[in-house]
Amino acid sequence: MKFNLVTLFPEFFDSPLSHGLISKAVEKGIVSFNKVDPREFTTDRHKSVDARPYGGGPGMVMFLDPIVKSLDSVGIKPAREGGCPEGKRLIMLSPKGRPLTQKLAVELSKEEELTLVCGRYEGIDARFEDIFPVELVSVGDFVLNGGEAGAMCLIEAVARLLPDFMGHADSGTEESFSSGLLEYPHYTRPPQYDGLDVPKVLSSGNHALIEEWRKKESLDATLEARPELLSEAEGLKKDDVRYLRTIPRKRLGKNLYMALVHYPVLNKFGEKAAVSLTNLDIHDMSRVSRSYSISGFYAVTPIEDQKKLADRIISHWTSGPGSKTNPDRAAALSKVSVKDSLLDVVEHIESETGKKPILVTTSARGAGNTTSGQVRELLYDSPVLLVFGTGHGLAPEILEMAAGCLRPIRFMDGYNHLSVRSAVAITVDRLLGDAW
Ligand SMILES: C[S@@+](CC[C@H](N)C(=O)[O-])C[C@H]1O[C@@H](n2cnc3c(N)ncnc32)[C@H](O)[C@@H]1O
Repeated sequence: MKFNLVTLFPEFFDSPLSHGLISKAVEKGIVSFNKVDPREFTTDRHKSVDARPYGGGPGMVMFLDPIVKSLDSVGIKPAREGGCPEGKRLIMLSPKGRPLTQKLAVELSKEEELTLVCGRYEGIDARFEDIFPVELVSVGDFVLNGGEAGAMCLIEAVARLLPDFMGHADSGTEESFSSGLLEYPHYTRPPQYDGLDVPKVLSSGNHALIEEWRKKESLDATLEARPELLSEAEGLKKDDVRYLRTIPRKRLGKNLYMALVHYPVLNKFGEKAAVSLTNLDIHDMSRVSRSYSISGFYAVTPIEDQKKLADRIISHWTSGPGSKTNPDRAAALSKVSVKDSLLDVVEHIESETGKKPILVTTSARGAGNTTSGQVRELLYDSPVLLVFGTGHGLAPEILEMAAGCLRPIRFMDGYNHLSVRSAVAITVDRLLGDAW
C-alpha cells in the first residue's frame, strides 16, 4: 500500500517510519511512503504557505494553491476534474472528522493508495473541502498542533492489518476492538515478579481452559472500561451474556431516585392544578426503576382518593393476587411509594441515605441548564432526585426547589411531546445505560 503524506514537516515522519515493524514493511515492499511538501509548490521568494484569516482572529490559515499542486503531483485532481482515481482515497486529518476506529482502519486497509493531508496552524482554507473529494478523519476529541501525529496513528492502525505486515497472522484478529471487545491481559517470564504470579491457567497447557479464561478477562476488561462497546459487540454468545450478568457492577442507579409529581403542576392555561395518577405511569416507571436498579420511585399527590388508588394498584401487585401470578411485577412495584409532597420525598431520601438529595427537574420546554453528563457526575457521590411532571409540566414552585433542569430530550426539534413514561425511559437510559 502506498501512503502519500502531504505535510509542511516531512522530517516529522523520519523517526516513526524508520523503526520497528513499519520499517521492515517498507523493506519488504508491503508499504511505501511518499512525502509531499506543499512549500515546494510555492512561487514567492519566501515560500509562503499561510496567511492571516479573513474576519480576523488568532493564528494563520494554510493557502489552498500549494495543496492543490501537491495533490496534483500524486494524481489527485479537484472533483470537477475527476477527483481521486479508483483505489485511491484522499483523507485530511481533522478534529471535525469521522473518528478513527478499528472498523475504519480495516476499511482503509483494503485500498491501494491513501493520501493523508496534514493541516497545521488553524488548518487549510475551508474551500479545500468544497473542491476536493476529501474525507475528514479525527483521532480523538482533542486538538493537536498538526495532522502529522494523527496521520501516524492512522498509518500504524492501517498498515498492521496488511497481509504479511505482522509475523503472526492471528496477531491482528486477537487484539482489542477486532471482536468489538477489549483484549485480555498478556504475561511473560518470569512466572513470579515482586510476589505477583502469572495466572495458573496460562501454564496449564489446557487450550480450552485458556481460551475460556481469556474470553472472560476480555469481557471483564470491556465491562469495566468501555461498557458501551458491549452493546455493539458482534458475536457475543449466550454464555458471554450469562457471564456478564454475574459480574458485580458499579451501580450509579443506587444514588438515583425519581418522583412523578401530580400536584403542583400546570394545566393547559398555565394555572396550578392537580392531575390524576394513572396505572400506566405507575407500572411503567416502576419497571424502569427496577430494570435500571434505581433506589426509589415516588408518586407525589396530596389527594386522598388518589393516594388510595395508588395504594390499591401497588398492593395488588406487591402483596395481593398479582404478586402470585407475576412476581417480576411485584419486584418492580415494590420500588414505588406514595408521598403527599416533594418535600416529603426529600425528607424520606434524606432519612434513608443521610444526605439531602440534589433535585434535578425535567421539562419539555426551554434549553435546560443541566446535561445528562453533569447528572451522571453528581450520581457518583450524592443522591439525586429526578423530578418529572404531569399535565403541562411542573409548577414554578417545584422548579425553584431544584439545583438544575435537565436539557429536554429532543431539544433541537420542534416537536418534543413525549409521554412522561417515554421521557422517563429515555432519560434514565441516558443516565444509567451502557451506551452513554
Ligand atoms: C491546531 S490544529 C487546528 C485546529 C482547528 N482550529 C480546529 O479547532 O478544528 C492544526 C491541524 O492539526 C490537525 N489535528 C488537530 N487535532 C486533530 C485531531 N484530533 N484529529 C486529527 N487531526 C487533528 C488537523 O490537521 C488540523 O488542521
